Amino acid sequence: MCGIVAYIGTKECCGLLIEGLKLLEYRGYDSAGVAILNGQLTVHRALGRVSVLEDKIKEAGAPKGAVGIAHTRWATHGEPAERNAHPHRDDRHGIALIHNGIIENYAVVRTYLEERGHKFVSETDTEVLTMLISELYDGDLEKAVQAALREVTGAYAIAVICEKEPDTLVAARKGSPLMVGIGANEYIVASDASAIVAHTSRAVTLDDYQVCKLTHDTFRTSTIDDDDVSPKVQELELELEQIALGSYPHYMIKEIMEQPRSLRNTMRGRIDQRDGRVVLGGVGQHARKLVRAKRMILLGQGTALHAAMIGEYLLEDLAKVPAEVEYASEFRYRNPIIEEGTVAIAVSQSGETADTLAGLAEARDRGAMTLGVVNVVGSTMSRETDAGVYLRVGPEIGVASTKAFTGQVAVLTMMALFLGRRRFMSVEQSASLLAELEKLPELVERALACSDEIKSVTEKYIDKENWLFLGRGYNYPTALEGALKLKEISYIHAEGMPAAEMKHGPIALINDGMPVVFIANRGAQYEKVVSNIEEVRSRGGHVIAVATEGDEDIKRYAEDVFYIPEISEPLSPMLAVVPLQLLAYHAAVLRGHDVDKPRNLAKSVTVE
Ligand code: M6R
Repeated sequence: MCGIVAYIGTKECCGLLIEGLKLLEYRGYDSAGVAILNGQLTVHRALGRVSVLEDKIKEAGAPKGAVGIAHTRWATHGEPAERNAHPHRDDRHGIALIHNGIIENYAVVRTYLEERGHKFVSETDTEVLTMLISELYDGDLEKAVQAALREVTGAYAIAVICEKEPDTLVAARKGSPLMVGIGANEYIVASDASAIVAHTSRAVTLDDYQVCKLTHDTFRTSTIDDDDVSPKVQELELELEQIALGSYPHYMIKEIMEQPRSLRNTMRGRIDQRDGRVVLGGVGQHARKLVRAKRMILLGQGTALHAAMIGEYLLEDLAKVPAEVEYASEFRYRNPIIEEGTVAIAVSQSGETADTLAGLAEARDRGAMTLGVVNVVGSTMSRETDAGVYLRVGPEIGVASTKAFTGQVAVLTMMALFLGRRRFMSVEQSASLLAELEKLPELVERALACSDEIKSVTEKYIDKENWLFLGRGYNYPTALEGALKLKEISYIHAEGMPAAEMKHGPIALINDGMPVVFIANRGAQYEKVVSNIEEVRSRGGHVIAVATEGDEDIKRYAEDVFYIPEISEPLSPMLAVVPLQLLAYHAAVLRGHDVDKPRNLAKSVTVE
């Protein structure tokens, strides 16, 4: 995905756009650019981070003007290079455009435009859309944008300006998020609220196929067929403080450390201890249907998939509902069978992940009821599901997902208890787990206190290029999550798997000094995990165990131990993951990587 910010109003906007880009940089960071309209277009683009663009602009002198568009890119079509950076422009009418998404039929459109004399300088689908708007331009930018969008397939959030209409900004959306912030005599268009809240708390979220034409003091929303749409103005809940780094060096560590607070928010008002019940406003009205559900399918990608895997265990174990989990990207294309009584649950931080959205649409089209377990309020997934439960963990900016993971598992735990209590669970059974759940934030705090110790252990192994993460039962997905965290930010090769699977092949990898992380908390399979540890040790592997406080025995088997407080097994992944998040963080810092913006990644993947 990419970050888009655009402005039309009465202020000089170049600096404001650059500040907006910095807040959106987590969405993509391989190149950046800005176009300012002041009679004529001035365009600056740069390969690399927003700071490179900023320096370039400082050197050239910031262009003056109160209309502008800016973009930070995550490359899809065309390598990261200045010529492929946005804004793209056409010289016939002086049109400049920024885009997030993918125009799928760009190749045919490009051929058509080339035949009509358009010259292309990039390999991007975005330049094709720019030229198409130019081709259709007949003195009315809004109409040309609408007409062009009727001709393309794929996903887009765009903002367009034109030299011939110096007081006009046109924005549109299909499949990629876009909001319009409404200020006094000014509008700020952005991919998400973080680039808007410094200016206004009133905004409109555009829906698919909607176009918005803005001047500095007027605003019209229509469809791509030019039918009027009445915009729904909402109050943004995001506060500036939530997106500030504060005294932390990186967003990732800030977000890891925030987990006690974010988990309290996730649970706030949702636990009714007296009756052993969970109150989930978002799904409450569907309770009868959910209680009768015959099967749950959980969909997600990456970290969200790992949370969904824990959700599968929770739903079967606590609610006794048959559940299965699947990569949304695979589910979508394998002709899945959806019987009556199937509920599909999409798990996602952003609510914009293209694969998960596509999987969800497939489930819905085949008759499933759909639920969202999503963080970003108003995201596509939250709007395209029948019901859902928000994570309420606040904005997650570090590319590596941390507090969203614990929030997702907490919501799935509450969903399982919501159903379990309504199906067969006694008040006592449910109340006892809920009491533990309420204590979880304090316990996470205790697990976080070991950060320095985890850092020293990480230092010992920092030169090792291959790691294994092993766990069983509820903590098998936690092992997968530990491995994903390590590889995505420290670029160390790491594999996660069920501990028992190791001897079916991967054990061949173990050699002298290879670090192997075991999640060995006290639980039903503890002895079995200890046997697996022995197998690794006898082959020269270095064992690092995540164990339950008070378990001194484990030191006989493991070289290094990270302790977590005691907790019932179904809730243990939310504690066991904490040392693994810290390990990955420290490894990335020790290796000198850009923790919040790891190479090749972007915060959410809005392309399939
Ligand atoms: O926004 P989502 O939760 O749907 O994102 C899913 C994955 O792309 C995401 O979890 C990704 O794997 C992260 N980089 C993990 O840290």
